[in-house]
Amino acid sequence: MAEAQPAKRVRTAILISGRGSNMAALIAAARDPAYPAEIVLVVSNRPDAPGLALALQAGVPAMAIDHRPFGGDRAAHEAAIDARLRQTDVEIVCLAGYLRLLTPFLVSAWRGRMLNIHPSLLPAFPGLDTHARALAAGVQLHGCTVHFVTLELDSGPILAQAAVPVLPGDTAEVLADRVLAQEHLIYPMALRNFAAGTAGAPASPVAALRNPAGP
Ligand code: GRF
Repeated sequence: MAEAQPAKRVRTAILISGRGSNMAALIAAARDPAYPAEIVLVVSNRPDAPGLALALQAGVPAMAIDHRPFGGDRAAHEAAIDARLRQTDVEIVCLAGYLRLLTPFLVSAWRGRMLNIHPSLLPAFPGLDTHARALAAGVQLHGCTVHFVTLELDSGPILAQAAVPVLPGDTAEVLADRVLAQEHLIYPMALRNFAAGTAGAPASPVAALRNPAGP
């Protein structure tokens, strides 16, 4: 009788620009051979991104594709990234603190296969400075969202969210840390659901908080 083959894992790349803590959470989750996605590549547009060293320490191939030599030609920079993704047989792309606005070229090329994590409960507070804006707005709940990347900024279909309370005396930094802890739970959960073909399964804040390991 033929031996059972290990399940094929979905080849996943992560694009970063900086610290890489969400990237590290995805890499840590994917260390489990039963996790349905494998992190095969990390690309940073900034050669000095601390996340690059973290990825290499974790044994994940990591490289910079610096945007600066491309001048203002965003599409040419994206073409270089896209070429590397395809050479590496990547099937899913996760943006994790990738701080370049994408052109329609890369978004269309990876439509339905590109995820992002955003530090707010979308559709509230798309864009930058989400924690300060949440405090200024006086919301009592804030949080984070994993969503598909579409042409409109921070607006694609939602895969997972987690909510945190806004507490008296919170600063933007304190609130950011509270949200970040949830980002590190829901991004691996959302990627797992998507890679396993169960995207769209409920991933409510309660599910995320109670059962970070999955449905
Ligand atoms: C996170 O807050 C993420 O939601 C946002 O950028 C930040 C990246 O942090 N898109 P890190 O590099 O993953 O630590």
